Amino acid sequence: MVIVRNIAAARWWARRFARNAAAREARALERLEGIDGVPRLLRFDGRVLERSFMAGAPMQQAQPRNAAYFRQARRLLASLHRRGVVHNDLAKEPNWLVRDDGTPAMVDFQLAFTRRRRGRLFRLLAREDIRHLLKHKRTYLPELLTRRELHILATPAMHARVWRQTAKRLYKLIARKLFGYWDNEGQGRVRR
Ligand SMILES: Nc1ncnc2c1ncn2[C@@H]1O[C@H](COP(=O)(O)OP(=O)(O)O)[C@@H](O)[C@H]1O
Ligand SMILES: [Mg+2]
Repeated sequence: MVIVRNIAAARWWARRFARNAAAREARALERLEGIDGVPRLLRFDGRVLERSFMAGAPMQQAQPRNAAYFRQARRLLASLHRRGVVHNDLAKEPNWLVRDDGTPAMVDFQLAFTRRRRGRLFRLLAREDIRHLLKHKRTYLPELLTRRELHILATPAMHARVWRQTAKRLYKLIARKLFGYWDNEGQGRVRR
């Protein structure tokens, strides 16, 4: 079985992005050739991308609650990073699979970076990949988080922090302007 991504399926205005994303995915999968736990790139002609199918279920459905899954996922992630690929979209549960034999796999490399040299940005994004995996561990197996892992969870990268702050400020602004209230630490709504 083959999983197909077809650029032609995207709307005309999104096609450039779709082509770009498919090319990113193709580049990453090519670099990851031979790693067990990512799809194999079967074909990419600039418009149609074909990847090998991996039998399993997405994380939100399979709900992995065993230490082995997360240990293997961490190892899989390390082998990606060693090849110079960061995934960048691992906060999404549907991008993680639990294969029929219980082992982890990753899909959807549309946002991945493939780099020859692993500089500062690469290392930062690699750590974010790990942090996103640990978020899932916190969901399904929180009692097995180590102190080191808790520390990683507690220290998101600057850009994630900045983004959260910006989003929060924006939300506050909109909430205040639009609804005329802002929550006061759970003591009920205050109307001004
Ligand atoms: N190689 C694959 N093997 C098995 N299932 C896959 C594979 N690729 C994708 N899927 C399934 O299809 C879903 C969507 O694919 P994905 O690559 O994430 O594209 P998108 O997020 O753009 O829809 C995934 O969440 C996964 O459940
Ligand atoms: Mg996806």
